[in-house]
Amino acid sequence: MDTKILTLEEGLDKAVELIKGGDVVAFPTETVYGLGANALDKEAVKKIFLAKGRPMDNPLIIHIADKAMIDELAVDVTAQARAVIDAFMPGPITVILKKSACVPDEVSAGLSTVGIRYPSHCVAQKFIKACGLPICAPSANTSTKISPTSSSHVYEDMKGRIPLILEGGECQVGIESTIIDMSTSSPTILRPGAVTPQMLAQVLGEVKTFSGEIVVAKAPGMKYRHYAPDCEMVVASSVENAVKAYEDHIDDKPVILAKSDFICAANKLRDCDHIDLGADDSEVMRNIYSAMHEAQCSYGYIICQDFGDEGVAKSVMNRIEKASGGKRV
Ligand code: TXA
Ligand code: MG
Repeated sequence: MDTKILTLEEGLDKAVELIKGGDVVAFPTETVYGLGANALDKEAVKKIFLAKGRPMDNPLIIHIADKAMIDELAVDVTAQARAVIDAFMPGPITVILKKSACVPDEVSAGLSTVGIRYPSHCVAQKFIKACGLPICAPSANTSTKISPTSSSHVYEDMKGRIPLILEGGECQVGIESTIIDMSTSSPTILRPGAVTPQMLAQVLGEVKTFSGEIVVAKAPGMKYRHYAPDCEMVVASSVENAVKAYEDHIDDKPVILAKSDFICAANKLRDCDHIDLGADDSEVMRNIYSAMHEAQCSYGYIICQDFGDEGVAKSVMNRIEKASGGKRV
């Protein structure tokens, strides 16, 4: 199969035709690129799992471009859930709600709930509106690979497996949406993201974060290894440890991923091959996946700074811990 990358202007009609015909289309969102299909068409949904090599027991979230669609896809939407929706949608958040009968089991993987996301990216909105359908979409990477934040990331990973990628530039948020379960009386964050617990607590009063041992995996995806680069990755707790790990692995072609100030902290580190992720945590969030893509292409061992646990840095560290399998130096 030939995989095309087209701008919205060139490709919107084709994208709509593919979706209505039961096929898949990759499209940009502000978080990461998604691989979309008609959420109401079981056979189309199956094509997503096939193209990604994704286990069928891992549910998909549904993307909308109009809040009215929520009441078609979900039932028993509480006042608290509406408050979260009104505060953060469109934006980098997915809200888990009780699903309505129209959501196929293929989307929800047999769960009684469904994740709803209203992306703020204008290409995503125009694409979903033009389809006139709810679009289910996971990140547009093959299962266990790094999520894509540019059309070329999608192309490199999925070429030959999907017909079309809509161009939307680089994703400005850079990591997947915050997932909050609003289907029970105690709202719980299942996946951290750009919408932080502090931001949610302002609307909800109180919110639980998912942490510690997973006894019953509420976000089924949590039990799979995710966001893994092709080569080994470790987290360095200090500049000294980063330099030492670099020297210890010099034969593996190492690279250091860090913020500008971390890189400037030592002459020795400046001389190491490194990728500067930017000056602040939002920049790090925007650049982290792209840097991991670049690092796995050109290097053989990735050493990443520990960004701490304040605000969005904590969400970024959630992805880095998964990519590194918890390995530290
Ligand atoms: O930013 C994002 O959320 C991106 C863009 C494309 O929108 N999408 C994304 O989808 O990250 P995916 O499939 O890669 O991650 C969605 C996560 C999975 O871990 C899945 O297990 C979980 O959401 N999930 C989906 N439906 C769920 C549900 N009903 N209850 C709990 N977790 C759910
Ligand atoms: Mg994913």
